[in-house]
Amino acid sequence: MTNKRGFFLTLEGAEGVGKSTNIEFITQYLEQRGIDYVLTREPGGTQLGEKIRELLLAVHEESMSELTELLLVFAARAQHLDKIIEPALAAGKWVVCDRFTDATFAYQGAGRGLSMETIGELESMVQGELRPDLTLILDLDPEIGMQRASNRGELDRFEREQMSFFRHVRQGYLDIAQAEPERCTVIDAAKSLKDVKLDLLAALEQGLSKIT
Ligand SMILES: Nc1ncnc2c1ncn2[C@@H]1O[C@H](COP(=O)(O)OP(=O)(O)O)[C@@H](O)[C@H]1O
Ligand SMILES: [Mg+2]
Repeated sequence: MTNKRGFFLTLEGAEGVGKSTNIEFITQYLEQRGIDYVLTREPGGTQLGEKIRELLLAVHEESMSELTELLLVFAARAQHLDKIIEPALAAGKWVVCDRFTDATFAYQGAGRGLSMETIGELESMVQGELRPDLTLILDLDPEIGMQRASNRGELDRFEREQMSFFRHVRQGYLDIAQAEPERCTVIDAAKSLKDVKLDLLAALEQGLSKIT
């Protein structure tokens, strides 16, 4: 019997768009359908990766160079792929991931202005051919997103960025969606949570219909 490879689903979007809120809804949907999944996030997902996440999000006395930030993100990702993502997909499970490499193109590329080509080279080095099967991008005016995020408590190192940074991040995501419409679905995250869920459900069912 051939072991069918799993399905790699990523949820993307800037601060406060509703990724964490909606990912729970997505996993409930998978459970109802009897689909075996692993829920994880980036940066992080493994013990070492979560330590790198802490380094990335904490505000340090010494400013972090942009290249350090980029390499830390990919270091965490290499660990994540090796320990969690690749084994789960090989075992036929779904991997549901709160952010992945699109976030690197959006934050470190569009946001920080690092070379997209360099990021693409690191992507190939770390991931080989692996890309998500389906990516749901929650899109929202960053003013609203930051308002939502600021209700969560103290702001992390990214959340302290200027509004212009988040506008670039948002555009970065929209550019990816435009370049890869087969893989990416943009969801209007300004709608009520109920309507966002309906749109997510529709996108998921469309994604599922392609593989079953
Ligand atoms: N569609 C929505 N409308 C109103 N509030 C929302 C919506 N989606 C999420 N929220 C709220 O916004 C805040 C940030 O959501 P969260 O899921 O933590 O965002 P993210 O993980 O994308 O940063 C939470 O308090 C959440 O309840
Ligand atoms: Mg979140």
